Amino acid sequence: MEILRGKCASFLDVSGLAERIKGYDNLHIDIGTGDGRFVQHRAQACPNDFVMGVDACRENLTDTSRRVSSNALFMIANAQALPFELCGLATQITINFPWGSLLESLLVDDAALFDGLGMIAQANATLDVRLNGGALAEAGWSFEEGASQVQNVLAANGFKMRTAEAMSISELKMFPTTWAKRIAFGRDPRAVHLRGE
Ligand SMILES: C[S@@+](CC[C@H](N)C(=O)[O-])C[C@H]1O[C@@H](n2cnc3c(N)ncnc32)[C@H](O)[C@@H]1O
Repeated sequence: MEILRGKCASFLDVSGLAERIKGYDNLHIDIGTGDGRFVQHRAQACPNDFVMGVDACRENLTDTSRRVSSNALFMIANAQALPFELCGLATQITINFPWGSLLESLLVDDAALFDGLGMIAQANATLDVRLNGGALAEAGWSFEEGASQVQNVLAANGFKMRTAEAMSISELKMFPTTWAKRIAFGRDPRAVHLRGE
């Protein structure tokens, strides 16, 4: 799989990855990681965990990946074609404020995305998806219907879902991603947290 450090891309195989993640308690994979801020925050807050960020767009990752912690790694991949090297590794998966084809795949029950999520997840892995009103509106859904659609799609794909929880503006301001802050200070600060395992 293709990994990124600053502007420098390289490839990591299964054994190289096994070496990097050896000895860590949990493996957290953040899909659609954007500028990688969430990964860096988690890696620093949980030094016994290994945290990986995946995004299709490499430009936004240049800065954070250059100064990444030793327990974190950034990959360039499409969420609909997750690298097979991740097979069975994830104890936690997050998708924070998806847009574009990532959000579309969640809404339309895209097998390419859900096969990949099933492939990378360990048994009992947790999944946290955070959605926002603006992205759902751009995708042609109302906030309530879009959130409910994704919740139903996740349940249909075998995730045991808890009740969806609205995220307050103060929660968004505290949440360690760039988009959470943009949403909190933007015109449509509605957001919801869907949790499953
Ligand atoms: C609104 S940004 C959110 C970024 C970050 N999670 C945050 O909260 O700051 C959505 C991200 O999803 C990524 N994305 C969209 N479609 C994707 C796909 N099919 N595969 C991987 N990443 C995708 C975009 O490149 C972008 O970085």
